Amino acid sequence: MTAVRDRPDRLVLELLHDRMLLRVVEAADALGLFERLSGPAATVDEVARDLPGDPDLVDWILETLVAAGFVLTTPSGVHAALSGPLLDLVRAGRGDDESWRGLASWTKGSAPARASMQPDYFRRAFLAGVPDSFSTKMAAVSATLVPGLLRYDWEGHRHLLDLGGGAGVIAGALCDAYPRLSATVLELPAVVDSTTRCGQASDRVRYCKGDFFVDALPSADVCLLAHVLVNLQPSDAERLLSRVAEQLPGATLVVVDPMIDAESRWQSHVMSLNAALRRVAGHHSADSYREWLAGAGYEVQTEWRLDSYSVDRCLVAAPRRQNRGSP
Ligand SMILES: C[S@@+](CC[C@H](N)C(=O)[O-])C[C@H]1O[C@@H](n2cnc3c(N)ncnc32)[C@H](O)[C@@H]1O
Repeated sequence: MTAVRDRPDRLVLELLHDRMLLRVVEAADALGLFERLSGPAATVDEVARDLPGDPDLVDWILETLVAAGFVLTTPSGVHAALSGPLLDLVRAGRGDDESWRGLASWTKGSAPARASMQPDYFRRAFLAGVPDSFSTKMAAVSATLVPGLLRYDWEGHRHLLDLGGGAGVIAGALCDAYPRLSATVLELPAVVDSTTRCGQASDRVRYCKGDFFVDALPSADVCLLAHVLVNLQPSDAERLLSRVAEQLPGATLVVVDPMIDAESRWQSHVMSLNAALRRVAGHHSADSYREWLAGAGYEVQTEWRLDSYSVDRCLVAAPRRQNRGSP
């Protein structure tokens, strides 16, 4: 049973309060609070004085954020507990609001055509130039996957191929955690260009420009597909898995994506709708992934759910042993 079915009254109250709290965070950000907190150390009063607007209201906002744990007060001054990729996610979420407001009209068919999975989405998006907000959001979403991916023991692996690895946030974090691991991020040329302009994720991460449907895959003993298959139509997902199986024989495959299954909590369904509203894709079922992997000759060895932004599931699969006796 999900929390919703258990306690709908509690959930409604939490949702309403959480929505208000999010608005407070957004207002504080718009007033420049988080930027101010990344500057010279200051007391609550000094910070409140530095922000524009009615001092009483600013104080009120600050107190709320302190109570929520987003702002910490210590003897050395006030600090932001909300920063980096998490703050980027809050900022990116503001952009999603407009799509969400269109949900009802979209459902009635009066808004843009029903969302469809577009295998070519990224190629077209990146041909038009990578918008900073898109790359920033992608990197922020990637960062939320890292703790869950670190539940897997990567120690037995030496070289990771991160297919469609974006800015290399995950590859960099895994290399930082495992000193004997190195990684290749295979990405579309426009993404690699914009990524390397912003600096390498780690000196053990190499970027390779290419198209994973067309170019030879660099060798590796473990291959990661993070938020890649979710953007593909089933036939393309199967095609990509077959390429990996053929070109990286013996390599372990780690697939992490938002997947829908019988245990899915409401958050998974909301994130699936969120993707569909942005017309990227709807989510595939966990069973589809298991079927595609089996079809490409893999056996799922372990799987778990992640507490990530997209409410993901991770499947670790190894090539099925060939039956030596068979013809
Ligand atoms: C949703 S992002 C995921 C990025 C990263 N794996 C992560 O988890 O944050 C999907 C990535 O796949 C890349 N991609 C899509 N089609 C590709 C292709 N044909 N060849 C190489 N990369 C591709 C996109 O450029 C994009 O960066």
